[in-house]
Amino acid sequence: GLPARVRVHEVGPRDGLQNEATLVPVEVKAEFVHRLADAGLRTVEVTSFVHPKWVPQLADAERLLPAVAGLADRPGADAVRLPVLVPNKRGLDRALALGARDVAVFASATESFARANLNRTVDESLEMFAPVVARAREAGAGARGYLSMCFGDPWEGPVPLDRVVGVCRRLLDLGCDELSLGDTIGVATPGHVTALLTALNEAGVPTGRLAVHFHDTYGQALANTLAALRHGVTTVDSSAGGLGGCPYARSATGNLATEDLVWMLHGLGIDTGIDLGRLTATSVWMADHLGRPSPSRTVRALAGR
Ligand code: HMG
Ligand code: MG
Repeated sequence: GLPARVRVHEVGPRDGLQNEATLVPVEVKAEFVHRLADAGLRTVEVTSFVHPKWVPQLADAERLLPAVAGLADRPGADAVRLPVLVPNKRGLDRALALGARDVAVFASATESFARANLNRTVDESLEMFAPVVARAREAGAGARGYLSMCFGDPWEGPVPLDRVVGVCRRLLDLGCDELSLGDTIGVATPGHVTALLTALNEAGVPTGRLAVHFHDTYGQALANTLAALRHGVTTVDSSAGGLGGCPYARSATGNLATEDLVWMLHGLGIDTGIDLGRLTATSVWMADHLGRPSPSRTVRALAGR
């Protein structure tokens, strides 16, 4: 069976924009987040509190988060969760000082990417995250754990299931309340997705704690999502207009486009609370700002471009 409702975790402002070479003004980012909220997204990942030299595009996090924070105070079901990435205590301090209520740490299943992305081994990065997750929870914040390179790695090739399962267990043991399984370079196929979710269940990880995070490099992101939904996953990460990539992973292209995801979900009769017309208009507006068309097939079809 398929779920009746899916929670879309929108990553466009963070994963989408982090790879853009040209700096996007903070006012444009704030409008992007507001437009996404007005289109019905109820989880919008806003930015990262990382070293500004590592991700220059997100160096304005101190200005952006306060500019959108009011969305979290909207009444009842209209309240928007605004998670931010924090790699270490310094990042967490910066985020909590601005009232962040949801944070995410980001680990890697492979040593190559842990080094490229965090300047650490896998073990060292988990040691770095332990006090971050503990303090976030003490502060009453939600703590998501991302795991990158769950399927393949640009330097190491296919990633063994048991390696992924091992790091997932350790992230849960740190106290993460949700795990997002990242196909950072978009090489996963549906059978591999089902195999990983099954292996995680066999290791005692409940599907209810899992989200999926697909990049669309080989055009498999929707098929992979459907495999995950059939397995019982109900939280899916995606990026408006298919923006995105990771500056520290060679060959990472855009995320699954939120519009493509919503088109499929609504076609399956699955509720998302998202207004596809408003969302598409937002991605067209952002594409105009960035000066190139959205790679999303659904945006192009609906916008006639
Ligand atoms: P490092 O060079 O090892 O840092 O980088 P350090 O701990 O040695 O500190 C060096 C200096 O940086 C110090 O300053 C720190 O204060 C400062 P100094 O004393 O020399 O003046 N510093 C900071 N400044 C501001 N904010 C901070 C911070 N931390 C240290 N938070 C570090 C280690 C983790 C900082 C660095 O590697 C980093 O910032 N990495 C971020 C990389 C990143 O953001 N990648 C993209 C997100 S992951 C992704 O996209 C994948 C995902 O989408 C899922 C998927 O698709 O797979 C999530
Ligand atoms: Mg990503």
